[in-house]
Amino acid sequence: MTKIKSVGILTSGGDSPGMNAAIRAVVRAAIYYGLVPYGIRHGYYGMITGQIREMKSQNVSGIIQYGGTILKTARCEEFKTPEGRKMAYEQLKKHNIDSVVVIGGDGSFKGAGAFSAEYDIPFVGLPGTIDNDIYGTDYTIGYDTALNTVVQAVDKIRDTASSHDRLFFVEVMGRDAGFIALRGGLACGAEAILIPEAETHLETLKNYLEEGNKRKKSSNIIIVAEGDDAGGAFTIANKVKEDFKDYSVRVSVLGHIQRGGSPTAFDRYLATRLGVAAIDALLDDQKSIMIGLINNDIVHTTFNKTIKQHRLADPKLLKLIDILNV
Ligand code: ADP
Ligand code: F6P
Repeated sequence: MTKIKSVGILTSGGDSPGMNAAIRAVVRAAIYYGLVPYGIRHGYYGMITGQIREMKSQNVSGIIQYGGTILKTARCEEFKTPEGRKMAYEQLKKHNIDSVVVIGGDGSFKGAGAFSAEYDIPFVGLPGTIDNDIYGTDYTIGYDTALNTVVQAVDKIRDTASSHDRLFFVEVMGRDAGFIALRGGLACGAEAILIPEAETHLETLKNYLEEGNKRKKSSNIIIVAEGDDAGGAFTIANKVKEDFKDYSVRVSVLGHIQRGGSPTAFDRYLATRLGVAAIDALLDDQKSIMIGLINNDIVHTTFNKTIKQHRLADPKLLKLIDILNV
């Protein structure tokens, strides 16, 4: 039988749509299994400073459809130090919290791993980031919503791009990985997609535009992941403009709209399954693991593994762009 009687819940790092659905699932599953849930506000900063309060079932009523996180989130340098983590431990002890669920990205799991190596309080993680770049899960909470936001935005840009015969560079988020750019670009019929996982050759892009020109192709949408090796959308657009002086070129950086909004049905479903599985894992005396969904099954991956293995988008899918641009 588990000794655990309570669980602290926090969201950490960059927010993502579906975090509220995950908080709701963790709180309700905890209560269902007889644990006392505590909300920790502002991520690890709130853990250090004692922003901790018991949560009741009604505290998570009516939040499943909202983006952001009711617990707020933060980045906290102090938690990276042993002194900071000691203060966090003292706060957890003071509130009788004997397990923790952290919803965040791999940085948050690094923090959880460091804490668990020093103190005997089990931590379980849920992958919450729009980037989808976490090893140990097919999907992260928030990715699907961000993709849908990108598709809606690019559909609108496409209207004006084709009315004016313009070349648009649309920058999407993803500083280390091109999942949003790749799947978002395919879903909105982009003419080219530039991602960090594949070296960008501007000459190839220019040749493609030249070819399109010959075929009287009058407008183009190029999706650029913010972390692309050739630079951001503005840099790339400026380089292309040098050779295509007659083109009407515009740049649109979608930015933080990708981080907000009502989560899609898939993100709510994912968050709900992972949230309940986090409590199952703690009751099963598991610790230092992230819960993921692979082939629709719950999978546990150690923090060590998920931190060390960097998950990248598959550049082979770029071949689809060549096929579809025939
Ligand atoms: P994400 O979780 O979205 O990747 P960050 O990388 O900003 O976001 O990490 C979130 C927080 O996790 C950091 O602000 C810090 O408090 C904690 N953290 C990150 N890396 C470490 C580390 N190496 N040791 C301890 N804590 C860390
Ligand atoms: O990790 C999620 C993410 O949205 C990245 O795609 C982006 O590069 C980064 O966070 C932006 O961070 P901030 O909100 O701190 O500007």
